[in-house]
Amino acid sequence: MALQISSGFFAASTFRPRRVQKIRAVASTETEEGLAKLGGSDLKVTKLGIGAWSWGDTSYWNNFEWDDRKMKAAKAAFDTSVDCGINLFDTAEVYGSRLSFGAINSETLLGRFIKERKERDPGVEVAVATKFAALPWRLGRRSVITALKDSLCRLGLSSVDLYQLHWPGLWGNEGYIDGLGDAVEQGLVKAVGVSNYSEKRLRDAYEQLKKRGIPLASNQVNYSLIYRLPEENGVKATCDELGITLIAYSPIAQGALTGKYTPENPPTGPRGRIYTPEFLTKLQPLINRIKEIAENYGKTPTQVVLNWLIAQDNVIPIPGAKNAEQAKEFAGALSWRLSDEEIAELRSLASEITPVVGFPVEKL
Ligand SMILES: NC(=O)c1ccc[n+]([C@@H]2O[C@H](COP(=O)([O-])OP(=O)(O)OC[C@H]3O[C@@H](n4cnc5c(N)ncnc54)[C@H](OP(=O)(O)O)[C@@H]3O)[C@@H](O)[C@H]2O)c1
Repeated sequence: MALQISSGFFAASTFRPRRVQKIRAVASTETEEGLAKLGGSDLKVTKLGIGAWSWGDTSYWNNFEWDDRKMKAAKAAFDTSVDCGINLFDTAEVYGSRLSFGAINSETLLGRFIKERKERDPGVEVAVATKFAALPWRLGRRSVITALKDSLCRLGLSSVDLYQLHWPGLWGNEGYIDGLGDAVEQGLVKAVGVSNYSEKRLRDAYEQLKKRGIPLASNQVNYSLIYRLPEENGVKATCDELGITLIAYSPIAQGALTGKYTPENPPTGPRGRIYTPEFLTKLQPLINRIKEIAENYGKTPTQVVLNWLIAQDNVIPIPGAKNAEQAKEFAGALSWRLSDEEIAELRSLASEITPVVGFPVEKL
């Protein structure tokens, strides 16, 4: 349901860039193993995770159809990610919702992929992040634990690494945050986070959890080279100040930043209403420069745009991989760094482009 809401609004309008706030340098959270510590929690994850929204989904992705071929490709995406050393996977209870015809729940698929991998490779460790949907009829802290237990059942796990509120509720948010704290205290999750939270909501949630000695580990928001609202609305600066990791969703602008889509070859389905030929025409100068930089490094444009995000510090992008090739390409965004001049140049070129609208809940 949430996905339909988001896709409708995504296409509706544009946001106007506002004053860019000065972003404070954040102390590096890199561990000795080259992993990132997730906020103030003990969780250590790779500096890039994999998004599993498209796995099993028929409401936004996959041309509204799911089949065995797509299933095998998704499983290969999972296995290749693990082979490449990526240990963080992001899903949600609403991904692959049963309300959408022919869909399979993404948590169910991720759980299956983990189980099958562990049968072959018992030592394998992955960090699972999933999300609670703040649906208007869900009231109080107990609804969080009930939903989490259902997620654990679909995943076939006794606990998850990160449990996030998918978006702020229209009401009942204090109860949800209490529910996150309860989940930690009951040993059902290692760390808790929020998603699509504004600066004010972030500060309130942080303080509420802090009273119980629980760190708010992350805020998952829409952030990419061409969607820099977190730099403008105080969210990135607040994450840095409070030691909350910013998890960047749609980091390659749903494929638009890879160079694969052009005005002559726009994406199909709901994405085609967002990344229109007109928008893609305006994007071309930026894409051309990304391609040049990529060539200089022997990298791909996708790896450059992900590296740009990782270079912002305290940011973990979670691009969605539909197959092994995409997963492998994502792994190549790690272990190197664009120069400061290139980072600034790309931001400056990108600021010429009016961004598409985000998930409206981030303004709640
Ligand atoms: N918290 C929230 O509200 C929220 C909202 C959105 C997403 N998310 C999370 O963030 C994750 C990623 O976001 P997203 O899926 O919206 O967008 P994204 O990661 O920016 O884009 C993913 C899409 O880009 C295309 N792609 C992937 N790798 C590519 C490559 N190497 N070359 C060319 N195209 C490539 C694929 O679609 P095609 O191959 O069909 O082009 C893929 O499905 C999601 O899976 C989900 O876990 C969270």
